[in-house]
Amino acid sequence: MALITKAIKGTKDVLPKEVHKNQYIEATALDIAEKFGYKEIRTPVFEHTELFQRGVGDTTDVVQKEMYTFDDKGGRSITLRPEGTAGAVRSYLENGLCNETLPQKVCYITSCYRYEKPQAGRLREFHQFGVECFGTQSPLADAEIIALAKSIFDTLEVKDLSLEINSIGCPKCRAEYHKALKEYFSARKEELCPTCQDRLERNPMRILDCKSPICSEIAKGAPVVIDYLCDECKEHFEMVKKYLDVQNIEYKVNPHIVRGLDYYTKTVFEFVSNSIGAQGTVCGGGRYDGLVDALGGQKTPSLGFAMGLERLMLLMEAQNCPFPEASKPDLFIVALGDKATLKAVELCKDMRAEGFTALMDLNQRSVRAQMKYADKLDARYNIVIGDNEVNEGTAKLKDMTTGEETEIALDTFVSGFYNISLSSQLADLEINGEEFDFGSLFNVGGQE
Ligand code: HAM
Repeated sequence: MALITKAIKGTKDVLPKEVHKNQYIEATALDIAEKFGYKEIRTPVFEHTELFQRGVGDTTDVVQKEMYTFDDKGGRSITLRPEGTAGAVRSYLENGLCNETLPQKVCYITSCYRYEKPQAGRLREFHQFGVECFGTQSPLADAEIIALAKSIFDTLEVKDLSLEINSIGCPKCRAEYHKALKEYFSARKEELCPTCQDRLERNPMRILDCKSPICSEIAKGAPVVIDYLCDECKEHFEMVKKYLDVQNIEYKVNPHIVRGLDYYTKTVFEFVSNSIGAQGTVCGGGRYDGLVDALGGQKTPSLGFAMGLERLMLLMEAQNCPFPEASKPDLFIVALGDKATLKAVELCKDMRAEGFTALMDLNQRSVRAQMKYADKLDARYNIVIGDNEVNEGTAKLKDMTTGEETEIALDTFVSGFYNISLSSQLADLEINGEEFDFGSLFNVGGQE
């Protein structure tokens, strides 16, 4: 029968044979975030459209061109989250985290949805690991989240990522800057795309990250915001740099980073790679001191970042970064006949209760077919049981790596398995480059 439908353009399946790599990246990120005091938050995949219009900004590409928006059956306008920050802020306010001791630190792993043109490293459904820190204006926090992102990349042994930072100021310095931008772009208004002609009036900074080739060419010569910072923003940026320096975190000040979302103020940063093509920004973030109050809360200086997990995976694969191996089953039980099948069910249950991975053939095929299946599953040990083994109460446990067979009692199977697999693991250990002599453990007091 023909396939009913294919996956939607810009989406990607993760298959069982590769999912351990995703799990490794995610567990590493969560683990490091926890060391910096971040606890996981889980928010819904869809929110009221208005949250993103007000949060991300209605002159951004994300809101104007890329959101998956629809009316639900109750006539509400709903949007699949294009990013994680707005939902995290909504939850922070709605659930009263804002009344707890500040700063509140949360992290998340989420799917995000943007209707963009798919290409390497750019999907319509993608995943982010992100952190948000609510309620601190200290530049210490800016340097700390950058250190957190860097620590994740270092632990994953990602190389050649450059950290680029900038300050885009506060509303005070932004007013002067907008005037300068308007002046600059007005001179070439006719050449701008229709969206940017509209942005020129409403939010000229957004022209700076327009993806249209003509607008981005014109934007190259535009004034840069760092030249318009007020004293407070300048001082903040200097302190961020100082706190990065003291941690030996290398960075480049890139005055052209403005980020594509409206909520940013002061520090913005990106980790960029040139090993994965045009979509080289693996992580982006910064401060958003006005977002919490724009969404109905008290004024709460905050900041965060998100890294694209698919881009990170691409980069790690391109650089041959180490991944742990996929886990293998500890035991496969080949069972022949009804009695042995019942025994196998019981042994699997006992083994799993002790934390081992134990499998048997649910299709009850021939011994040969079961052996082949066990081989495919790459189980570390095999055992074959039939009527004889069940009646006699013993069977042979085969180590599939060495081929070695050991007699094992079925009524004390789990402890027997534990001993055999432990001694084989110890024998595998090498001490000072020589094979470890397991027997020496028992040579007490120099006796032979
Ligand atoms: P963003 O720069 O829009 O920021 O996205 C963060 C990261 O998500 C990007 O650096 C990229 O790695 C990944 N990404 C974005 N779009 C796609 C796509 N279409 N396909 C694959 N990966 C993509 C934010 O989303 C902010 N919420 C980050 C933040 C958190 N700022 C403060 N807190």
